[in-house]
Amino acid sequence: MAFELPPLPYPKNALEPHTSAQTLDFHHGKHHQAYVTNLNNLVKGSPMESQSLEELIRASYKDESKVGVFNNAAQVWNHTFFWNCMKPNGGGAPTGNVAQAIDRDLGGLAKFKDDFKAAAVGQCSAAAGPGSSPIAASSRSPGPPMR
Ligand SMILES: [Fe+2]
Repeated sequence: MAFELPPLPYPKNALEPHTSAQTLDFHHGKHHQAYVTNLNNLVKGSPMESQSLEELIRASYKDESKVGVFNNAAQVWNHTFFWNCMKPNGGGAPTGNVAQAIDRDLGGLAKFKDDFKAAAVGQCSAAAGPGSSPIAASSRSPGPPMR
């Protein structure tokens, strides 16, 4: 069964003014769709075609003969996760266990935000080194199914 682009969990203009409908149209409708299309083309006619997205990610992780399958499957998963991490009028400070973990492990919300921004900027420059922030960048993130 072919993979399908999951619909956005909100209308395309729901995140304006932070993210425009045009941005969501391009990022979801073209970029995310391209990963789905590529993945379907890569697994078509093989035993992988019947696996779930999570099974494909696990089965192709660190298998050099399946780098394309891994990259596309993981990006389909990551993008779907990303869309579901946002909502209209969302945001604000975390609460509960997440807030406690940020305070305990990441030096508090302000430091976490600074470290996150630095890691995001660093994604396009140098890799984090020893003694740097616990927030680290990876150019080939496997996504939560591998953790
Ligand atoms: Fe993307």
